[in-house]
Amino acid sequence: MKKVWIVGASGRVGSALLKQLDCLKYEIMVTDATEVDVTNREDVNSYMKISRPDVVINCAGLTDLDACEADPDAAYRVNAIGPRNLAMACDRIECKLIQLSTDDIFAQNEDGHPYNEFEQANPRSVYGRSKYAGERMVTALSTRFVIIRSSWIYGTRVDFISKVCNAVKTQTPLEVPINQYAVPTSAKELARVVAYFIDHDLYGVYHAVCQGSCSRYEFAKEILKGIGKEVELIPVNTTDEARPLYSVLDNMMLRLDGLHQPAEWKAALAEYLSETGGNE
Ligand SMILES: NC(=O)c1ccc[n+]([C@@H]2O[C@H](COP(=O)([O-])OP(=O)(O)OC[C@H]3O[C@@H](n4cnc5c(N)ncnc54)[C@H](OP(=O)(O)O)[C@@H]3O)[C@@H](O)[C@H]2O)c1
Repeated sequence: MKKVWIVGASGRVGSALLKQLDCLKYEIMVTDATEVDVTNREDVNSYMKISRPDVVINCAGLTDLDACEADPDAAYRVNAIGPRNLAMACDRIECKLIQLSTDDIFAQNEDGHPYNEFEQANPRSVYGRSKYAGERMVTALSTRFVIIRSSWIYGTRVDFISKVCNAVKTQTPLEVPINQYAVPTSAKELARVVAYFIDHDLYGVYHAVCQGSCSRYEFAKEILKGIGKEVELIPVNTTDEARPLYSVLDNMMLRLDGLHQPAEWKAALAEYLSETGGNE
């Protein structure tokens, strides 16, 4: 049985992955920031020495975009130094590191084509830049790494779906950008891709998003359709400098390697909403 350490397991993606990964198939170890602080090399090294995992999945991150803008040192500490510490510790015991990354390393291209794994990153926010720095740490310092970039992940306790559901409950009109494009991706579909890399000897950078793309506004409308409820959605043009306007990812590497492709985004969303009604 493979030993898998989920770092940052109490976060949105970590807890969603934990729910999806088969605990009969893997021995799963989980830590949050109070147990192992990724920014602390000694913490990371001693946990690694004691637990000796086969695979580490790094879901830890400073993900609040405004907090990252306000304190870039804190952002780089968690998003770049954290992955550095894990990469060095993993390499020492020849363990695989799966680093979660984000579409925020891209911001907007000229002609609106989906970004593949071979394109140059152009982050516009401190969050995006610090995550990209983390990726570079991982590629430079570990030999067995997989970087999985995803976007607009749902299937967690607090996500965009819960925001829309709360607006429905309180009947509060919700402003939603019509000029932000990416791919809503269910944690279940993402977990399938992650699980594949736990079990197979493939390495490198992979995009893992559902098929297709939409604006935030279309995403919100599809959520309302799925739960069969209404609330006023106010389409707005966001001027938020820190959020990418266009960060649609193309799963080119999954395609080139002939691997499983996540479902189409509307189908994955419909499945999730029919299972949960939007309430996790
Ligand atoms: N959510 C998305 O839509 C999305 C999309 C693409 C990529 N991602 C990536 O997926 C990963 C997880 O994102 P998320 O949305 O799950 O973020 P999240 O909900 O903010 O969770 C981040 C986790 O990291 C932990 N953490 C923070 N500082 C830490 C430290 N110094 N040491 C150890 N753990 C620490 C947090 O613990 P505390 O809560 O105790 O601080 C939290 O459990 C990130 O790499 C993110 O870039 C997320």
